Amino acid sequence: MTDILTIPRPDDMHLHLRDGAVLAGVLPETARHFGRAIIMPNLVPPIVTMADAQAYRARIMAVLPKGADFTPLMTLYLTEGTDAGDVAAAHGAGLIHAVKLYPAGATTNSHGGVRDFTRVLPVLEKMAEIGLPLCIHGEVTDPDVDIFDREAVFIDTVLDPLRQRLPSLRVVMEHITTSQGVNYARTGGDNLAATITTHHLIINRNHILAGGIKPHYYCLPVAKRESHRLALREAATSGEARFFLGTDSAPHIDALKEQACGCAGCFTATNTMPLLAHVFEEMGALDRLAGFTSRFGAGFYGLPVSGKTLTLTKSAAPAIWPEKLDTGAGPVTIFHPGFPVFWQVNS
Ligand code: NCD
Ligand code: ZN
Repeated sequence: MTDILTIPRPDDMHLHLRDGAVLAGVLPETARHFGRAIIMPNLVPPIVTMADAQAYRARIMAVLPKGADFTPLMTLYLTEGTDAGDVAAAHGAGLIHAVKLYPAGATTNSHGGVRDFTRVLPVLEKMAEIGLPLCIHGEVTDPDVDIFDREAVFIDTVLDPLRQRLPSLRVVMEHITTSQGVNYARTGGDNLAATITTHHLIINRNHILAGGIKPHYYCLPVAKRESHRLALREAATSGEARFFLGTDSAPHIDALKEQACGCAGCFTATNTMPLLAHVFEEMGALDRLAGFTSRFGAGFYGLPVSGKTLTLTKSAAPAIWPEKLDTGAGPVTIFHPGFPVFWQVNS
């Protein structure tokens, strides 16, 4: 039995850090274990221009704990007014590593996102030309489409037509939650990848709804039925480089989760690596954890694999985390897997 595992320092290719007091509170949780993260731009107001990304990066660096080995990889939030020249300049300066496409209304702070996809084509054409990846929140927003079907319908009606129109565009299907997402990712070549979150490997929709509503398991895209969770587990542990970790750790203070209309997002920054070791061990794939967390995402984004390492150890006693992380803006509940976890990151 393997009970010590050393892997290259991991990357989180989809992370929400927020701003202000929440940023200061959550950043150490990621920086403790991860060397780099793709930073989501859905702030209020969103990070739309190169100047916005520069300023946000400076705010992140200002609260990074001293001595931390962490590099934020910035992104821009695509709007119908985005200037292709500004995007190219931000990429050319080495500031941004992706542009994020939110269909307007699909998720938290997405109202400034895209309604008419034809209006962003000039930006997407420029991105295809310069090799800058587009990270896509892949859900349709049509209220007539059932929320559990929104990812599959997006793939058929938006993603596939877009990729046929711009086959050289590099695309990341963010936080896939369905077997359709897994299958579609497999139809692409080197231009297409998909991130998978920690929590979607652990919960299905029963965890959210059966026996009482659990607001801390509510996220978008919403967790689907068990067969989809199993498809995600198979994909994440397959050793295929197209699938890599993007935690989508999305902190909201408890007051905003635990109310009549609770915000979407699971906060997994604190315990993602032990949870993933648990899942990969269950799948008999501990030897593939390093690919998923530390090699494949770097490869897709054209970054070197970290020369540093992270070591996880399995103990006889379950690991213990605090239930909540206190931030200056209020407590944020840490994702609870609902089972004991025996892996922990060596400190
Ligand atoms: C994210 C957030 O809170 O910003 N929420 C979530 O449920 N994942 C937005 C997102 O990635 O959809
Ligand atoms: Zn997200």
